[in-house]
Amino acid sequence: MTKILVTGSKGQIGSDLIVALRDRYGVMQVIESGRQKLPPLEDKLFLYETLDVRDLKRLQQIVERYRFDIIYHLASLLSATGEQNPHLCWDINVNGLKNVLEVAKSHRIKVFWPSSIAAFGPHTPKIDTPQIAIADPSTMYGITKATGELLCRYYATRFGVDVRSLRLPGIISYSTPPGGGTTDFAVEIFHAALKNGTYTCFLRPDTRLPMMYMPDAIRAILTLMEADPNAIAIRTSYNITAVSFSVEELVTEIQKYIPEFTCRYEPDFRQAIADSWPSIIDDSKARSDWGWKPACDLSAIVADMFAKLKKPEKPVILTS
Ligand code: SER
Repeated sequence: MTKILVTGSKGQIGSDLIVALRDRYGVMQVIESGRQKLPPLEDKLFLYETLDVRDLKRLQQIVERYRFDIIYHLASLLSATGEQNPHLCWDINVNGLKNVLEVAKSHRIKVFWPSSIAAFGPHTPKIDTPQIAIADPSTMYGITKATGELLCRYYATRFGVDVRSLRLPGIISYSTPPGGGTTDFAVEIFHAALKNGTYTCFLRPDTRLPMMYMPDAIRAILTLMEADPNAIAIRTSYNITAVSFSVEELVTEIQKYIPEFTCRYEPDFRQAIADSWPSIIDDSKARSDWGWKPACDLSAIVADMFAKLKKPEKPVILTS
């Protein structure tokens, strides 16, 4: 039976990914982990290990106890938080990844690790960014993603580690908010629209970024991980996208549901980060190598976000 470790499981992607993994592999097969200690009750509902990925010894202990087949390594600082604490960002994102790759090497574990559009930089072609392009990231987060991609390829080619990766765009979801990213506005705006009828955006209205709805992201991750290893030609990280829209296009779509909704613009330091990233990504390699195809465009995302956020879903209580 496949045993799985998810690091950073309480984050935006982790919260949704563990639900999908437990559906597929069984509740007790998926072990969550994160830096925080859980309250005693929550602790009993599923298997959770306190783990700081920078602590190689602790990671090794957990790996030896459970004998994992796959690690979904999601623990990371995002772009805006990374700029507030670049040292910590490097430490968690790069040294944490290297620790995971080390245990993957010694225990023959398959790994998923998310890279990001942030691996690109101001000299990267902004429109239809090719799979192989100049990557000169200007943020510490982006530098850790570009470095991480090379580490993944190194461990794959030098040591035969089956590590697979996606350059994720901004992810929109309703169950857990993102924390500390530049694309967070695309989630915050829905909550603000429903609560206050207005939102103050930290980016300019014409800022256009690649985005994806969480169900597409989860499907992309699982499809990549289940693909035939011979189909995985890219061992750095695959370009992947679903839709690209500007902030004002998102506002217009939201106004179809809440006509009185208004958005003000007060760009801050995150504008420079967004300006250094691509607007539209070419993900043809992911499509041809392992059959990637997104399902949700902007109107489908907005419709589903409002459907889900208006009527909060019951929290899922997992029992074994
Ligand atoms: N969503 C991330 C961020 O905004 C980009 O990978 O930092």
